[in-house]
Amino acid sequence: METKIFKRDELDEAAELLRQGELVAFPTETVYGLGAIATRDDSVKKVYAAKGRPSDNPLIVTVADAEMMRPYAKEVPERAEKLIKHFWPGPLTILLFAKEGALPSSVTGGLKTVAFRCPDDQLTHDLIKKLGYPIVGPSANTSTKPSPTSAEHVYHDLKGKIAGIVDGGQTSFGLESTIVDLSVEPAVVLRPGKVTPEEISQVLGEKVLINRGKVADKDVPKAPGMKYRHYAPSAQVYVVDHSEKFLKLALDQKSGVMATSDILAKLTIPEENKFSLGDSLLEADHNLFAGLRYFDDMKNINAIYVEAFNDGEESWAYMNRLNKAAGGKHI
Ligand code: TXA
Ligand code: MG
Repeated sequence: METKIFKRDELDEAAELLRQGELVAFPTETVYGLGAIATRDDSVKKVYAAKGRPSDNPLIVTVADAEMMRPYAKEVPERAEKLIKHFWPGPLTILLFAKEGALPSSVTGGLKTVAFRCPDDQLTHDLIKKLGYPIVGPSANTSTKPSPTSAEHVYHDLKGKIAGIVDGGQTSFGLESTIVDLSVEPAVVLRPGKVTPEEISQVLGEKVLINRGKVADKDVPKAPGMKYRHYAPSAQVYVVDHSEKFLKLALDQKSGVMATSDILAKLTIPEENKFSLGDSLLEADHNLFAGLRYFDDMKNINAIYVEAFNDGEESWAYMNRLNKAAGGKHI
């Protein structure tokens, strides 16, 4: 299958492919998503096949606005309305009870809940409006690989397997959305992202719990995706807890280093073995997945050393993804 790249003025064609049941990847402010019309079981199943994703890992339903969500939710409680009003469009995914029979069970993985997200991206907003239906939107990477933050990343993983990619350039934030579960009280943050538990708690005016725990395979996980290996390049990834430690590492041609620019400047390894995370946590959020992919494509790299950030709640999303990529390996 040819994978077409669509620009801003070619959205009609992209929407038509979705209408026909094909897969089209789309940009968001977090990472690229893999779109299929959410109301069609056959299209949704193609998403699992293209990604190589286990079928018990449910998909986010991506909408252009809150109105588009309502037919698929059993009810939209006041707490959800508050969060939607404050954070949508934006990087907050909300779990609600699903309206029975409104969506194929391939979307929800047979769970009673469904995840809704309204991304802050005009191209994707226009695409969904043209289609007139919500689209599912898992990250548009091959399962276990880092999420894609550019159309090139999507093409790298899924070329020949999907009908198209809407190219919106690099994503701005770079880590997946915060997921908050509103099917329980108090609300629980299942996956950290740009929107912090504190911000959610402030808007709700109530306590918010945090799910930091590791999810064991035998349990029924709250966010099923959390039990799978994730964000992992082929090389071993190590979290470097303190920046001074970079200077003591035995680095060679087979080492990749991802760090802020001041640290990289002090290292004597070849420039191509360095990937700058930028100069701040926000830049590091934006660059993390691109860096892991950069070294994955270099083939001869067998260890990637990545700088940790210890900025409290603000760095939770970054450290969560990095720790998963590293499988817990720290230096
Ligand atoms: O930023 C994002 O959220 C991106 C962009 C493309 O929108 N999407 C994304 O989707 O990260 P995905 O599928 O890669 O991650 C969604 C996570 C998975 O871990 C999945 O298990 C969880 O959300 N999830 C989806 N529906 C759920 C449900 N009903 N209950 C619990 N967890 C759910
Ligand atoms: Mg994903």
